[in-house]
Amino acid sequence: MELYATTRLDKYFKDPLEFKPERWLRGTKDVHSFSHLQFGFGPRMCVGRRVAELGMYVLMCRLLQRFRFEYHHEPLEIRQKMLTVPDKPVKIKFIERF
Ligand code: HEM
Repeated sequence: MELYATTRLDKYFKDPLEFKPERWLRGTKDVHSFSHLQFGFGPRMCVGRRVAELGMYVLMCRLLQRFRFEYHHEPLEIRQKMLTVPDKPVKIKFIERF
Protein backbone atom coordinates (compact mmCIF):
# COMPACT_ATOMS: atom_id res chain seq x y z
CA MET A 1 0.00 0.00 0.00
CA GLU A 2 1.34 3.45 -0.93
CA LEU A 3 1.45 5.21 2.44
CA TYR A 4 3.10 8.31 1.06
CA ALA A 5 0.14 8.86 -1.30
CA THR A 6 -2.71 7.96 1.07
CA THR A 7 -1.40 10.11 3.92
CA ARG A 8 -1.42 13.15 1.60
CA LEU A 9 -5.02 12.81 0.42
CA ASP A 10 -7.67 15.11 1.88
CA LYS A 11 -10.11 12.26 1.38
CA TYR A 12 -8.52 10.67 4.49
CA PHE A 13 -6.85 13.57 6.32
CA LYS A 14 -8.15 17.05 6.95
CA ASP A 15 -5.49 19.54 5.76
CA PRO A 16 -3.14 16.67 4.84
CA LEU A 17 -0.07 18.83 4.19
CA GLU A 18 -0.31 20.74 7.46
CA PHE A 19 1.92 19.74 10.37
CA LYS A 20 -0.73 18.77 12.95
CA PRO A 21 0.64 16.26 15.43
CA GLU A 22 -2.60 16.50 17.43
CA ARG A 23 -4.38 14.60 14.66
CA TRP A 24 -2.73 11.44 16.06
CA LEU A 25 -4.01 11.84 19.62
CA ARG A 26 -5.85 8.79 20.87
CA GLY A 27 -9.61 9.05 20.39
CA THR A 28 -9.34 11.62 17.57
CA LYS A 29 -11.82 10.84 14.82
CA ASP A 30 -10.07 12.86 12.08
CA VAL A 31 -7.93 9.98 10.84
CA HIS A 32 -9.30 7.04 8.86
CA SER A 33 -7.97 3.80 10.46
CA PHE A 34 -6.99 2.23 7.13
CA SER A 35 -5.22 5.29 5.73
CA HIS A 36 -1.92 4.51 7.45
CA LEU A 37 -0.91 0.87 7.79
CA GLN A 38 2.81 1.19 8.52
CA PHE A 39 2.65 -2.02 10.53
CA GLY A 40 0.33 -3.92 8.20
CA PHE A 41 -3.05 -5.27 9.25
CA GLY A 42 -4.72 -8.56 10.13
CA PRO A 43 -3.28 -11.90 11.24
CA ARG A 44 0.16 -11.22 9.69
CA MET A 45 0.55 -7.67 10.96
CA CYS A 46 3.79 -6.68 12.67
CA VAL A 47 4.22 -8.51 15.98
CA GLY A 48 6.77 -5.92 17.08
CA ARG A 49 4.46 -2.92 16.72
CA ARG A 50 4.02 -2.25 20.45
CA VAL A 51 7.75 -2.74 21.13
CA ALA A 52 8.65 -0.41 18.26
CA GLU A 53 6.11 2.27 19.25
CA LEU A 54 7.06 2.12 22.91
CA GLY A 55 10.74 2.46 22.01
CA MET A 56 10.01 5.53 19.87
CA TYR A 57 7.84 7.15 22.59
CA VAL A 58 10.48 6.60 25.27
CA LEU A 59 13.29 7.92 23.04
CA MET A 60 11.31 11.05 22.06
CA CYS A 61 10.19 11.73 25.64
CA ARG A 62 13.69 11.42 27.01
CA LEU A 63 15.14 13.66 24.29
CA LEU A 64 12.39 16.28 24.76
CA GLN A 65 12.87 16.27 28.54
CA ARG A 66 16.55 17.04 28.09
CA PHE A 67 16.76 19.18 24.91
CA ARG A 68 15.00 21.85 22.90
CA PHE A 69 15.32 21.37 19.15
CA GLU A 70 15.95 24.09 16.60
CA TYR A 71 16.27 23.90 12.84
CA HIS A 72 17.73 26.90 10.94
CA HIS A 73 18.23 25.56 7.45
CA GLU A 74 16.28 25.21 4.21
CA PRO A 75 13.01 23.30 4.38
CA LEU A 76 13.48 19.57 3.98
CA GLU A 77 11.94 17.73 1.05
CA ILE A 78 11.08 14.06 0.84
CA ARG A 79 12.95 11.53 -1.31
CA GLN A 80 11.36 8.19 -2.06
CA LYS A 81 13.98 5.46 -2.19
CA MET A 82 13.32 2.01 -0.73
CA LEU A 83 12.53 4.05 2.38
CA THR A 84 11.25 7.60 2.64
CA VAL A 85 14.25 9.78 3.46
CA PRO A 86 15.01 13.53 3.69
CA ASP A 87 16.69 15.08 0.63
CA LYS A 88 19.49 16.65 2.68
CA PRO A 89 21.16 16.16 6.03
CA VAL A 90 18.82 16.97 8.94
CA LYS A 91 20.93 19.48 10.89
CA ILE A 92 18.91 19.82 14.06
CA LYS A 93 20.44 21.81 16.91
CA PHE A 94 20.08 20.16 20.30
CA ILE A 95 19.94 22.79 23.07
CA GLU A 96 20.26 21.47 26.60
CA ARG A 97 17.33 22.59 28.78
CA PHE A 98 19.35 22.99 31.99
C1 HEM B 1 9.03 1.08 13.17
C2 HEM B 1 9.27 -0.23 13.29
C3 HEM B 1 8.55 -1.30 12.52
C4 HEM B 1 7.75 -1.22 11.41
C5 HEM B 1 7.35 0.03 10.61
C6 HEM B 1 7.33 -2.58 11.09
C7 HEM B 1 6.51 -2.92 10.02
C8 HEM B 1 6.14 -4.21 9.71
C9 HEM B 1 5.29 -4.57 8.60
C10 HEM B 1 4.69 -3.60 7.57
C11 HEM B 1 5.13 -5.92 8.63
C12 HEM B 1 4.32 -6.77 7.62
C13 HEM B 1 2.88 -6.83 8.09
C14 HEM B 1 1.97 -7.54 7.11
O1 HEM B 1 2.42 -8.44 6.40
O2 HEM B 1 0.78 -7.14 7.04
C15 HEM B 1 5.88 -6.42 9.75
C16 HEM B 1 5.97 -7.75 10.12
C17 HEM B 1 6.68 -8.22 11.19
N1 HEM B 1 7.37 -7.47 12.11
FE1 HEM B 1 7.58 -5.46 12.09
N2 HEM B 1 7.86 -3.44 12.01
C18 HEM B 1 8.60 -2.71 12.91
C19 HEM B 1 9.29 -3.17 14.01
C20 HEM B 1 9.33 -4.49 14.41
C21 HEM B 1 10.00 -4.97 15.62
C22 HEM B 1 10.73 -4.07 16.65
C23 HEM B 1 9.84 -6.32 15.64
C24 HEM B 1 10.33 -7.32 16.66
C25 HEM B 1 10.47 -7.04 17.94
C26 HEM B 1 9.07 -6.69 14.45
C27 HEM B 1 8.71 -7.97 14.12
C28 HEM B 1 7.94 -8.33 13.03
C29 HEM B 1 7.60 -9.70 12.68
C30 HEM B 1 8.04 -10.97 13.42
C31 HEM B 1 6.80 -9.63 11.52
C32 HEM B 1 6.17 -10.81 10.75
C33 HEM B 1 4.77 -11.08 11.28
C34 HEM B 1 4.09 -12.21 10.51
O3 HEM B 1 4.37 -12.37 9.32
O4 HEM B 1 3.29 -12.93 11.11
N3 HEM B 1 8.78 -5.57 13.74
N4 HEM B 1 6.49 -5.37 10.40
